[in-house]
Amino acid sequence: MKEKTLIVAPSVLSADFSKITEEIESIKAAKAQWIHLDVMDGNFVPNITFGHKFIKDIRSKSDLIFDTHLMVDHPETHIEDFAQAGSDYITFHIEATTHAHRVIQQIRATGKKVGISIIPSTPLYLIEELLSEIDLILIMTVNPGYGGQKLLDICIKKVMRLKTLRDTHEDYSFLISVDGGVNLSTIKKVKASGVDITVAGSAFFSAEDKTIFVEKMKNA
Ligand code: DX5
Ligand code: ZN
Repeated sequence: MKEKTLIVAPSVLSADFSKITEEIESIKAAKAQWIHLDVMDGNFVPNITFGHKFIKDIRSKSDLIFDTHLMVDHPETHIEDFAQAGSDYITFHIEATTHAHRVIQQIRATGKKVGISIIPSTPLYLIEELLSEIDLILIMTVNPGYGGQKLLDICIKKVMRLKTLRDTHEDYSFLISVDGGVNLSTIKKVKASGVDITVAGSAFFSAEDKTIFVEKMKNA
């Protein structure tokens, strides 16, 4: 059986915002398939990045999948804005809201794909009841908030368990994505864990040749 090609999702968090159009073009030129957009609010995570206006403004610069990762408290307040801005996937953190099922319904109502993310200390069972309802699970392999951190091996085991759960339940069709510390040194173990998508921020934007980087990630 032919293996599915790994989706590489460069995170613009590590891009140079003063030349964002070029940086976005470099993602497609390098044959990465998705663009990962890290929204941080300074509350759920210590850092602050950008909001829906930024996503709306760059939407016309690329036809790649926009993978919006909301690292914000009370994501329910912002779903409409990020949908209208042109996100294709909207991923929120289970730790950032009380009524996660309602947030799923909210995202569905906008017609966008639904993602849930969990931080390293959150156990998988916390999202177990929701697994048949979602399109994407983003397993954080670092504590969210910054690019350039080291991948935590404990999270790889979580990805493996999630993959097994998907393989053994016919009603689970979510994609598995990992976020944080993925680079050419860690990609082998990440891929072996069974992921469909890997986010890469600092490793992509600091690569000498981005096309070769993406190719190496896909073929690792
Ligand atoms: C971290 C963000 C990541 C970040 C990854 O909180 O969610 O998407 O951009 O950066 P790297 O790939 O440098 O670890
Ligand atoms: Zn992210």
